[in-house]
Amino acid sequence: MFKIQTLNNISVFGLERLPRERYEVATEIQNPDAVLVRSADMHKIEINPSIKAIGRAGAGTNNIPVAKMSQRGVPVFNAPGANANAVKELVLSGMLLAARNIPQALDFVKKLDGDDHAMHKAVEDGKKKFVGFELPRRSLGVIGLGAIGVKVANAAVELGMDVHGFDPAMTVNNAWQLDSRVKQALSVDDLVSKSQFISVHVPLLDATRGLINADRLKLMKKQGVILNFARAEIVDEAAVVEALNAGTLHAYACDFPSNALKGNPRVIATPHLGASTGEAEDNCAVMVADQIRDFLEVGNVRNS
Ligand code: MLT
Repeated sequence: MFKIQTLNNISVFGLERLPRERYEVATEIQNPDAVLVRSADMHKIEINPSIKAIGRAGAGTNNIPVAKMSQRGVPVFNAPGANANAVKELVLSGMLLAARNIPQALDFVKKLDGDDHAMHKAVEDGKKKFVGFELPRRSLGVIGLGAIGVKVANAAVELGMDVHGFDPAMTVNNAWQLDSRVKQALSVDDLVSKSQFISVHVPLLDATRGLINADRLKLMKKQGVILNFARAEIVDEAAVVEALNAGTLHAYACDFPSNALKGNPRVIATPHLGASTGEAEDNCAVMVADQIRDFLEVGNVRNS
């Protein structure tokens, strides 16, 4: 009987891959063989020496001490691509919300008070106040062409946007998926200087921390929009707030609320919802549960 500890809610579809006859699955469990985790920060948790494998029900592994686990010979399995469609859809929402000034317009409507005449007048005022822009022919730069970046780039091409991508480490598999209308930038700076919208899809590493900084914000085209549905630390928040307040950046859409961003009308922030769809949660849980099961039962080490 294998013992599996689940540190976050993992979808039942995933847990069904671990048949009850051979697996005991619980949040509190003595000497687990493996752990299934979503966003819990495992850097702050004592990892039991009994653990032989860790399954991360998501793409990023920055909440797991991967190097420490490798030294112990404990593989960390993740679910690359399993939530890519969900993240892509949230990125597209961010683009559209920013281009049409929807958060500000919703706020304006929520605060309306008065009779029908006042409402009618507000409609006239709103129409003037919240004039937006359309996406066709606007430029988008996608940094990181993994499963998510490729989907975002391809969807933007379909919306008629002029899309550039940059990823020196793109895999052959992802290259095959990429729409041929996506142009390759020569460097991050080259991509940034060609873009009005920038969407980041890189993991959080020392090399990607603060990738979008004050200097790069200055290179962007006018009415710029930064989309960060990867990790908060990839974008220098202080530089973004400064650019938003100076009016040089139109909007910052991100999946990470913070005090520095709070109350800024040009910030569209969600509470890390990129992978929060039923479909994505099922896909991630199924993928990691399969990998953990293969590893525990036959010692197979595979990712995806
Ligand atoms: C990911 O890395 O794929 C996401 O952080 C997943 C999640 O929200 O759990």
